Amino acid sequence: MERESGWCVMRSCIGKSLLVGILALGPVAPAAAQTQSEAAWLETVEAEGPTEIERGAYLARAADCMSCHIGPDGTAYAGGKPIETPLGDIVAPNITPSDEYGIGDYDLADFRAVLRDGRSPDHMLYPAMPYAYYRDMPDEDIAALWAYMQTVEPVERAPEAETDLPFPFNVRLSMRVWNALALDDRTWPQDPQLARGAYLVDVLGHCGACHTPRNGLMIPQDDQYLGGAKIRGWIAPNITPADNGGLGHWEVADIADYLRTGQAMDVVQAAGPMAEVVHFSTRHLDDDDLMAIGAYLKSVPTLPTPGQERPIVLPAAERPEYAHEFGSIREDMTRALADDGVTGTARLYVETCASCHGVDGQGQAPAYYPPLQDSATIRRADATNLVQVIANGVQHEMLYRAPPMPALRGDLTDPQIAELANYVRTEFGGFETSDLAAEDVNAILNPVQDLPFYIEYAATLAWIAIALVLIGLAALGWLVWSRYGRGERSGA
Ligand code: HEC
Ligand code: HEC
Ligand code: HEC
Repeated sequence: MERESGWCVMRSCIGKSLLVGILALGPVAPAAAQTQSEAAWLETVEAEGPTEIERGAYLARAADCMSCHIGPDGTAYAGGKPIETPLGDIVAPNITPSDEYGIGDYDLADFRAVLRDGRSPDHMLYPAMPYAYYRDMPDEDIAALWAYMQTVEPVERAPEAETDLPFPFNVRLSMRVWNALALDDRTWPQDPQLARGAYLVDVLGHCGACHTPRNGLMIPQDDQYLGGAKIRGWIAPNITPADNGGLGHWEVADIADYLRTGQAMDVVQAAGPMAEVVHFSTRHLDDDDLMAIGAYLKSVPTLPTPGQERPIVLPAAERPEYAHEFGSIREDMTRALADDGVTGTARLYVETCASCHGVDGQGQAPAYYPPLQDSATIRRADATNLVQVIANGVQHEMLYRAPPMPALRGDLTDPQIAELANYVRTEFGGFETSDLAAEDVNAILNPVQDLPFYIEYAATLAWIAIALVLIGLAALGWLVWSRYGRGERSGA
């Protein structure tokens, strides 16, 4: 199938690049959406009144603005959350309508420039603010979102943290070069449901910000669209319709379930960064929109997941009922603990995990303790998310459920986490062998970014460039002086 979702088209990159980059020091080309007069927007917003504000509130959910702009104490849109990037942490600002600390002094055109061009009235923004995705929002959606943002409670204080990037990344003008390389127009699927899905996935939901890998210039790789990437020490998995590594064995309704509740088919749960997405964003979407996302994801080009030779999620026909007898878990545990034959890692598993997931990993699905048998996280060839889940638990304050999966990092050593991961992979995940070691656990939990060389040496490179420019200017000056200055004097 032809790729239809081309927004993240990484231009045949470096080729066109620097020239375009330098030319682009002019304003970024506006997105293709048709432009209405501002007065007309405001008229619509005022005429529509509360419904327009409600629509804006829904768009803010779908675009997940809260997840980054929430204050550390949970105050809506107060800002202060550091967004990790390879350049350093970029702090999300206060975007409440406070004149002094927020965006109270913006007008609609300023707001649109933020979402479309990554430009706030006084500076260029870093793409940690996902304007590269939002830029395809049509005018009427930006106006509705703007109407809603006006109704947010103003927060009269500055965020606690501040962005402090090293030179040369603190030169915000450089983002114009990035914009010229990274931003491109896109095409939309013809089918209305798929087009809606594409809008929710690629524009509002900015799913590719986590699920599509980036190249060395931090530009999403078009040919790896939604093919899976690393993010904050987690794997944001392949969500193309691949049978082994992706959503091949998910029904559209399973995808909708997952986005609505954070779990699907008993064997997949949303943890880590995805739990936040479900919490702040997707669980608030209506069913038609969730089904549109599902249908669209099932329509994108399939990509393989390297190393994943068995399906992560079994085909429906091969998934058993993960039945257990009510109350049996306690009895099974007592029996296992009294059994001297249960030693080593098997005993550690019974002591640490079985009270919720059962001695045989059958879980208690009706009570929301998922089975570990056939668990997607356990069957995944890359054990990153399994180690994260054991160490950091599953935060799901959003899901009115049984007690959440606790973070066990404080109770277990790295070698024990490795042992338990190996144990559940071979017992419940269909692995013949698994040999994670303590060092692997440590590397997963304390990821060191492999920085592209230009980031690591950026300051040196920038100084060299500045020195070259200065030398060039000096040489030019000397040349001009020696030709004309001297000539004039000798002529005088
Ligand atoms: C992935 C995290 C993330 C999401 C999601 C996000 N933002 Fe941002 N936003 C940021 C960061 C980080 C900055 C600051 C960038 C900088 O300093 O260059 C920012 C900057 C802004 C600014 C500029 C404020 C100023 O100081 O001028 C506005 C306005 C804004 N965001 C609004 C929104 C809206 C509206 C949404 C939802 C449609 C949204 N953001 C979603 C991270 C995010
Ligand atoms: C902030 C980063 C981030 C964003 C944004 C994000 N995801 Fe995810 N997603 C993840 C991570 C990390 C996981 C793995 C969670 C886990 O294993 O518990 C995941 C898992 C998933 C899964 C389950 C895949 C599987 O095989 O288990 C689906 C489906 C999914 N995301 C869809 C979406 C959609 C649709 C969007 C946009 C609306 C989205 N994601 C946006 C990070 C993200
Ligand atoms: C106090 C109960 C409890 C204990 C103890 C516990 N878990 Fe969990 N676990 C849960 C719950 C509840 C969930 C589902 C969370 C959700 O869906 O929000 C879960 C989810 C999981 C998942 C799926 C997460 C995902 O993102 O796919 C795995 C894997 C897992 N647990 C493994 C373990 C292992 C291994 C141990 C022992 C080291 C353990 N759990 C101990 C309650 C527990």
